Amino acid sequence: MSLLLKLWHSLPLQSRAVILKPVQRNARIYRWLMLRHADAIDQADGVDGCLPPAEMRYRVSSSPHADEFVRVGKTCATDIQSALLRIGRDLKSFTQILDFGCGCGRTLVHMKNLAPEAQFQGTDIDAKAIEWCTTNLPFATFRLSKEKPPIDYVGDTFDFIYVISVFTHLDEEYQFLWLEELRRIAKPGAILLVTVHGLDDNRGFVFEREYEKGLFPAWYQITHHSQEYIYSNFSKYFDVLDYLPRGMNAHQDVVLLQKRPA
Ligand SMILES: C[S@@+](CC[C@H](N)C(=O)[O-])C[C@H]1O[C@@H](n2cnc3c(N)ncnc32)[C@H](O)[C@@H]1O
Repeated sequence: MSLLLKLWHSLPLQSRAVILKPVQRNARIYRWLMLRHADAIDQADGVDGCLPPAEMRYRVSSSPHADEFVRVGKTCATDIQSALLRIGRDLKSFTQILDFGCGCGRTLVHMKNLAPEAQFQGTDIDAKAIEWCTTNLPFATFRLSKEKPPIDYVGDTFDFIYVISVFTHLDEEYQFLWLEELRRIAKPGAILLVTVHGLDDNRGFVFEREYEKGLFPAWYQITHHSQEYIYSNFSKYFDVLDYLPRGMNAHQDVVLLQKRPA
């Protein structure tokens, strides 16, 4: 691969553009080449020398860049901590924490130092990511999830569940199924932090069938929620404690929820 890359870089830019033109028309081939290229040139160490391959990073961030992957994960972890402080809770006060939709651990890898005593679990539908996490993040335990509930956790297990950029991809039916299931596995009084793409107009809930082809299942698209929609619909499952526009990585909105006492 490195010989091929050397050859590629020895070509004048104009020749590279001519070669890339037909390739760019085929998104899947273009993506494959881009990700192989990212793996070959990656110099970043990740966290404690631990960096998932470019394809896995791309599946959670739509970017092959290692530095960006590490920066966003770190920001998400500190944004979780700041959001909790707004409702008077400290990450260190939780003992059983679930990263629902953990992907290849972009955020989770930074959480351990923020709550060193807590037991962390992670779950995702991406079997390769779960395999990678199991091998590389020994401080947590991992389990494969499915597109629809149930999930294989006992009821009333977690006192904190965070869900970064998962409800940003589900249609309304799946959203409600998962809200109900997350309520089941949360302890009474547990806190949930969920991120959403905000929506400034009055459409409430918008599910757009536009996500990258060939990378995700058909049910996994792009979803936007308005703040009003969150307060009137998520409150059927949880108390809505707070809503922080652009509270996650200055990009997604943060919703803080609490399971009602039994
Ligand atoms: C945009 S990525 C974000 C990943 C991770 N939370 C982060 O911030 O790096 C969304 C993740 O949600 C996962 N996901 C979607 N539906 C899921 C489900 N039903 N159960 C568990 N994970 C799911 C996807 O596989 C993907 O890894």
